[in-house]
Amino acid sequence: MALAYNHEEITPRELKPALLELDGISRETIEAHYKLYQGYVNKRNEILGKLADVDLASANQVYSEVHSLKLDLTFAVGGIKNHEIYFEHLGGPGGDPTGLFADLVRRDFGSVAAWKDDLKATGMAGRGWAWTAYDWDESRVFNYIGDAQNSFPVWNATPLVALDVYEHAYFVDFGTDRAAYIDVFFHNLDYDVVNDWAQRYGIRT
Ligand SMILES: [Fe+2]
Repeated sequence: MALAYNHEEITPRELKPALLELDGISRETIEAHYKLYQGYVNKRNEILGKLADVDLASANQVYSEVHSLKLDLTFAVGGIKNHEIYFEHLGGPGGDPTGLFADLVRRDFGSVAAWKDDLKATGMAGRGWAWTAYDWDESRVFNYIGDAQNSFPVWNATPLVALDVYEHAYFVDFGTDRAAYIDVFFHNLDYDVVNDWAQRYGIRT
C-alpha cells in the first residue's frame, strides 16, 4: 500500500508582468523569489512521488522516511502557498486599504496605521513571514508571525496579506534595512486583490 498514490503534479503559476516593475522592489529580487517558488513546486511533486513509492509493509523502517518526507512536504507546500499570495497581491498602487479589508483592520486594530505598525513589527521580528489572517474562530483579523515556510499560525485562519521577510526579499535592494523594504512592500500592495479574496471567502465585518 502506498501513502500518496493519488497525487497530481502541479506546475508553477506564471509570474505576472507587473511584478517585474514594482516600485522599489527590483526585478532581480522578484526573480529570486520566483526561482525559490519553482523549487518548492518541484520539491512538492518529487516528495509526493516518493511517498507513493513508500512500502508500508516494512513500516518500522519507513517511519523515519515518512517523517522527513511529510515534514519536507509542509515546507514545500508552505513555500508555494506563501509565494502565491505574495505574488498575487503585489503590483498594486499601495496607499491605504479600501473596502472590506479597510473595515476589518479598522475594527480589529483601531486604525489602518495601527494595523500597518503591527504588521511591520511582526515582520521585523519574524525570520520568514508575517501574515494578516482572518481567524474564523475569533471572527477577526490578526497579524501572525512565521519563522519558516511551514510555521503557519493556527488552524482555521485564512491569510489575506503575506509579507515575506526572508533575506532574499530585501537584501539586493535594501541591504540590511528590512524596515525600508517593509515600507516599500506596503506601497506595492493591491488592496483590490485582498478585498476580492476576503469577499470570496465570505468574510464579513
Ligand atoms: Fe520569497
